[in-house]
Parts: sequence; structure tokens; C-alpha cells
Amino acid sequence: MIDDRLYIDPELVQFYDLENEGGGDVDFIMGFVGDAKSVLDLGCGTGALTAMLADGRAVTGADPAPAMLDVARKRCGGDRVEWVEGDARSLRLGKSFDLVILTGHAFQVFLTADDQRAVLDTIAAHLASDGRFIFDSRNPLAREWQEWGPDDSRRTVAHPTFGAVEAWNDAVQDAVTGIVTYDTFYRVPAGGRQFHAQSRIAFPAQQALAEMIAAAGLVVDRWLGSWQGAPYAPDTGEIIPIGRKA
Ligand SMILES: C[S@@+](CC[C@H](N)C(=O)[O-])C[C@H]1O[C@@H](n2cnc3c(N)ncnc32)[C@H](O)[C@@H]1O
Repeated sequence: MIDDRLYIDPELVQFYDLENEGGGDVDFIMGFVGDAKSVLDLGCGTGALTAMLADGRAVTGADPAPAMLDVARKRCGGDRVEWVEGDARSLRLGKSFDLVILTGHAFQVFLTADDQRAVLDTIAAHLASDGRFIFDSRNPLAREWQEWGPDDSRRTVAHPTFGAVEAWNDAVQDAVTGIVTYDTFYRVPAGGRQFHAQSRIAFPAQQALAEMIAAAGLVVDRWLGSWQGAPYAPDTGEIIPIGRKA
């Protein structure tokens, strides 16, 4: 059951694409997909990348948040994608794909090792024998959440109806579990109406990911540390495994 208002509340979902215009992950995946004929995008969200991938390929986008999928269905190219309301921990489509992706740090919404293992099992269950997977998770060693305080994160989001919306975050890490709880605020200029979501994300370490990936019957060919292609290192911002079935 998903309870993060960032993804289930249509009023907050309308900010998602304004804040996530696509960056290195989109460029990398569009270059990486090559001649893959089928793609499964787990945690596809509003489906910007999913729809791009569907040009000439059989693409399925899965997400448990109806409000995110509503945006995805309506976007340009959305009619080329098979959209599935489903949880990446339990989804079983009964078919395999040349490429399985989980981007936009969707892996981090899974807070426990059991949930993370379940998602990796789902990836393995949907990979063709020569299929590949790729996902991203922020490197806990980079401690990016320390930059998500109100002063560092304050920004203006140009909303088509509300105008210049003031946005900011706040974040705190639980020292025991490593889970980061972060708040997202949007304040509309006229009337001062405010939207708020509180979200929780995990920051699994690369070693823990490596062990879970192996336990799911998967092997990693390359560990990237950025979507620009740098290899993973303790000081890189990202942990990006690229692999296949063992
Ligand atoms: C940060 S967004 C990333 C969306 C998209 N992949 C992107 O790159 O823009 C995280 C997504 O994970 C989805 N999500 C949350 N819980 C999930 C679950 N149990 N299974 C699959 N996706 C989930 C959310 O609904 C949201 O769309």
C-alpha cells in the first residue's frame, strides 16, 4: 500500500514533471536501450522516459500510484505504452523483457531489505535470458540529504496555473535505520495555499545491494557512479548497477 502523498495526491503529482524534467538518467537509458525490443519500467511514475522508450518498442510501465499513471496515460506517446497499476515487489506479468529499468531513484522507496529483495526478484522474474537491468540509488556515503534543508533547497517552480510557486524541502536521517524522512512544501503565491508531503526513502550501501542482487540470481556487469558514465566509487553520488541474469 503506497501512502506517499507526493505520488498519490493529484495536487502534489501536478508538480512532479515540473520538478523532474529528465536529466542524465533519460539520456543514458535512451543511449543504452539500443536494439532492445521490449522494456519494463518499474516505478514508472508519470512515464516521461517510459513513453520515450516506446517509440518502436513494446514497453510496459508499472506503478502503484493511480495519480501518477493518470499523467502518464495522457502524455504525448502515452498511448504506445501498456500501463499497469502494480507494485514492483509483487508484480508478475508472465512475460519477459529485453530491458528492465527502475529509475528516478524509485528503488529507494523500498525501506526494508525484504522489500528491496522482493523488487530484485521481480526484476529477475521479468528478464529475458539475455536481457539487462539497470536502476539507480543514491550513494549513502555522499549524504545528499544534508543538502535538502530549507535554505539549500528553496526554489521557485513555474506552475502553469498557480504561477511562481515557492518550494522547499527539509530532511532528517534516522541514525539507526539510515532511512531519510524528507518533507516537500509548495506555497502558492496568491492566497498562500500550501501543499505538503512527507516521504521516506532508504539509502542502501553498495555492498548490501551487491549481496541482494546476487541473491536474486542476477549479476552486475558494471557499477556506475553517475548517469554520465563514471564508475562507482565511494565518493560518487549514485550507485547504478547494470546487469543481467546469472
Ligand atoms: C521518484 S518517483 C520515480 C518515477 C519515475 N521512475 C521517474 O524516473 O520519474 C518514484 C516512483 O515510485 C513509485 N512507487 C512507490 N511505491 C512503489 C512500489 N511499491 N512499486 C513500484 N513503484 C512504486 C511511486 O509511485 C513513484 O512513481
